[in-house]
Amino acid sequence: MSGVRLEPWAKGDLPLVEKLMGDPAMTEHLGGPESPEKLADRQARYEVPGSGMFKIVDEVTEEAVGSVGYWERSWRAERVYEIGWSVLPAFQGRGIASIATAQAIAKAKSERKHRFLHAFPSVENGPSNAICRKLGFTLVEESEFEFPKGHFMRCNDWRLDLFDVSA
Ligand SMILES: CC(C)(COP(=O)(O)OP(=O)(O)OC[C@H]1O[C@@H](n2cnc3c(N)ncnc32)[C@H](O)[C@@H]1OP(=O)(O)O)[C@@H](O)C(=O)NCCC(=O)NCCS
Repeated sequence: MSGVRLEPWAKGDLPLVEKLMGDPAMTEHLGGPESPEKLADRQARYEVPGSGMFKIVDEVTEEAVGSVGYWERSWRAERVYEIGWSVLPAFQGRGIASIATAQAIAKAKSERKHRFLHAFPSVENGPSNAICRKLGFTLVEESEFEFPKGHFMRCNDWRLDLFDVSA
């Protein structure tokens, strides 16, 4: 499956945020569904030009099937990128998250802004950990992670060196 492309998040994409982050099954490893206020906040952040958030669009049907994006954060006293991804249930299991995440990594690489890109999937998130392994991330350690605020879970810290030209 290779027919997906990334498009910058746009105004009018709130229904997609709701399907991804307002749904119990989709947020099983992400602390549960978000409130309408949080979803609206998320949409407002995502739609800012240059936010780093992208819709995953099926090139044949032009349907939005998920999201992938990266943002800056501090981690272990360093500025890094963190990346996250989601694919709607009807489109899972076809390699879409892997392909879209590889496309987002290529964008982050081309910026040459931060050396390290981290992903923090729950240790229980089989598909997300498989994606990290497949895309060349290195497992640094398992650590306690707070997401959303007040909700703690065990996550794997996966790291990719964006400056490594051989990767
Ligand atoms: C995680 C998620 C994006 C995966 O989307 P997807 O398009 O189905 O993923 P892909 O098809 O690209 O790849 C999944 C990989 O995981 C593997 N996999 C699937 N279930 C697995 C499991 N239970 N244990 C281990 N590996 C598993 C698949 O075999 C595949 O690897 P392969 O291509 O080598 O065969 C999707 O399940 C999702 O949106 N989940 C809810 C949101 C979420 O948890 N986001 C991630 C937060 S870190």
